[in-house]
Amino acid sequence: MATRERGEDVDVDRPSALHSTVEPGTVVLVTGGARGIGASLARHLAAEGAAVVAADVVDAEWDADGLGVTHVRTDVSDEASWRHLVTTALDRHGRIDALVNNAAVYQGLGAKRAFTDISVEEWDRVMAVNTRGVWLGMRAVHPAMKRQGHGRVVNIASSTVHMGVPYFAHYTASKGAVIALTRSVAREVGQDGITVNAIAPGIVETEATLALNDDAYLAAAAGRRAVPRRMEPTDLCPAVSFLCSRGSGFITGQTLIVDGGMAFS
Ligand SMILES: NC(=O)c1ccc[n+]([C@@H]2O[C@H](COP(=O)([O-])OP(=O)(O)OC[C@H]3O[C@@H](n4cnc5c(N)ncnc54)[C@H](O)[C@@H]3O)[C@@H](O)[C@H]2O)c1
Repeated sequence: MATRERGEDVDVDRPSALHSTVEPGTVVLVTGGARGIGASLARHLAAEGAAVVAADVVDAEWDADGLGVTHVRTDVSDEASWRHLVTTALDRHGRIDALVNNAAVYQGLGAKRAFTDISVEEWDRVMAVNTRGVWLGMRAVHPAMKRQGHGRVVNIASSTVHMGVPYFAHYTASKGAVIALTRSVAREVGQDGITVNAIAPGIVETEATLALNDDAYLAAAAGRRAVPRRMEPTDLCPAVSFLCSRGSGFITGQTLIVDGGMAFS
């Protein structure tokens, strides 16, 4: 695709007959796809007909059930690992339409702790996976998406950024950076037909959340929502599918909070 002057009109993804869910055959990479939210997203997108490549540093805890999901061992904090993932996806499918940057150190946080008790090693590990991993991922898929003149990136942030959740300083900082990265990169790649958005989930009842929080905290959180119920991983699926679809082509740099109406941006 020819380089365009800034301000020149681009002719990509005009909403004539566009879809608001992924079209069959859409190639989507989902990181952190082995369990929790990532597994739920991978399963949902595959059920919609996407060709899903699920990447994780651990083996998947679920069966693809004939959905044709490819699992690739990947460490998102590592540049070479991203090269391997992108090469595998392109060899298998010939293109990459969407990247869902979902992998993070979340369950791996172990426990909430005061900012004064976080070690430098823990801080660096959280940043390496949650922030550097998102940047490396966008950088790794960019050549293929630019060549195609089309791409969707969905970065999973967190509403802890908006809520100012305590005892999670390294985690909230890493997710705040994801929102900043989303805006910055969106400005750079819009002219290539690529959109970059973030989703900020509220507290989702995954195994990781249950390990980090007691039930009374989760029940109280549910009660404070405009839609006062507990949140499940599948509550995120339609929003992710929309942002991976052709129909979302004029939305970029945004952060969509999906939390049943607790934090308002
Ligand atoms: N569960 C929640 O309440 C909640 C709320 C807001 C945001 N989030 C975000 O949603 C995403 C998924 O959360 P979850 O609840 O499923 O957490 P989780 O800890 O169960 O899942 C994270 C996944 O990322 C993988 N991962 C960790 N380090 C990796 C690495 N270096 N390379 C590749 N994969 C790696 C893990 O193996 C795991 O499968 C995370 O980005 C999390 O921060 C979760």
